[in-house]
Amino acid sequence: MAQARGQAQARTTIPNDLAPYWLPFTPNRAFKRRPRLIAGAKDMHYIAADGRRLIDGAAGLWCTNAGHNRDPIVAAIKAQAEELDYAPAFQFSHPKAFELAARIAALAPADLDHVFFCNSGSEAVDTALKIALAYHNVRGNAGRVRLIGRERGYHGVGFGGVAVGGIVANRRQFGALMAGVDHLPATYNRAEQAFSVGEPDWGGHLADELDRLVALHDASTIAAVIVEPVAASTGVLPPPKGYLQRLRAICDKHGILLIFDEVITGFGRLGYAFAAERYGVVPDLVTFAKGVTSGAVPMGGVLVRKHVHDAFMQGPEHVIELFHGYTYSAHPLACAAGLAALDIYREEGLFERARALEPIWAQAAMGLKGLPNVLDIRTVGLTVGIDLASRPDGVGKRGYEALDLGFFEHDIMLRAVGDTLAMSPPLIVSESQIGELFDKVGRIIRRLA
Ligand SMILES: Cc1ncc(COP(=O)(O)O)c(C=O)c1O
Repeated sequence: MAQARGQAQARTTIPNDLAPYWLPFTPNRAFKRRPRLIAGAKDMHYIAADGRRLIDGAAGLWCTNAGHNRDPIVAAIKAQAEELDYAPAFQFSHPKAFELAARIAALAPADLDHVFFCNSGSEAVDTALKIALAYHNVRGNAGRVRLIGRERGYHGVGFGGVAVGGIVANRRQFGALMAGVDHLPATYNRAEQAFSVGEPDWGGHLADELDRLVALHDASTIAAVIVEPVAASTGVLPPPKGYLQRLRAICDKHGILLIFDEVITGFGRLGYAFAAERYGVVPDLVTFAKGVTSGAVPMGGVLVRKHVHDAFMQGPEHVIELFHGYTYSAHPLACAAGLAALDIYREEGLFERARALEPIWAQAAMGLKGLPNVLDIRTVGLTVGIDLASRPDGVGKRGYEALDLGFFEHDIMLRAVGDTLAMSPPLIVSESQIGELFDKVGRIIRRLA
């Protein structure tokens, strides 16, 4: 091992021994044969380890909504590190935690007024599920323990999130997960929806499947329903028209909490602070992460409506109301980065910018229709999912090759989920950069034929 390390150090293109680091959600052996290493970033671009500039078509991992290495965020993190590195999250706090909670609550619709902080989307989901269960518990409905997710949903990688999630590959290695979970059907149907711009006309009725699950399990056993307003990680599935509104109505009818997982859709991705605003639906809980700091420091959280929060604030005042939290909840560096990111979103009008660019983005994306192997293109906000036909010799091979070609030969950062290419640029993307992104993707798709 020591010798291998030494040899690796002697090479110039591979900075380290690649063996010790086990990359997440990555085919490690393929990656390490030809690593895609990134050394720097600025605004709309990454700098590869070999010095090439790549246009970022993915906002990192759906997170750098303000663009990369923005000066105000960098300065805020530096200043915070000098002033206060860490304050205990339990029994103590620091002023910026309150300031950021107030700023996020002010962006959220209606009485989503309270914020519980954590460090990632996965933690946000597990936190929201626990708050939902505990809410019914403190109100004397301890029998409401079932959680309903949706097929093709992605809610991170905690046990709760995987249990309510609906992506088979993320579930099958991990045993029985959680008991008492059921799933709504996915909202996607290619025959009915192919090449829809925005929310498809077909599929609103699929929300009524919740009534079927209520009939099966009885409402008195169900705590919450969790959905992504746009199921993004599975390949960008916008909600059919009317679907989210119907889910809200059915939840109301049966006293079930509705959770929107807005880890991707929050902070401007759909042209609004939250998808809840775009769709005019107020869920009881909203998870967020990623864009809250524009990806600069890990942070997640849950927005909680007043009636849910207040249900916990009833007992004796010396008693902890929710036995849950993280050492790094509302970490000072994350709060500083979050405040600076929110300033940029506001000062540069980035949410409105995304809304204004949406038709231009959609038109450019649909320009790829008719290219070889393109089965469907879906757009909503500044996102797109492009389904490619799978190769007969392996599902996911064409998608992986597109990502690899993008990185090494076309200087573009793409995401591939199986054979679906997903794009979601930073919200600072210009019209000409939108053209550049789709021009590159078109050339890549032609090469894959
Ligand atoms: C909707 C949704 N929920 C949760 C997560 C998990 O977030 P994290 O990777 O920060 O744990 C993601 C990540 O992409 C997501 O898209």
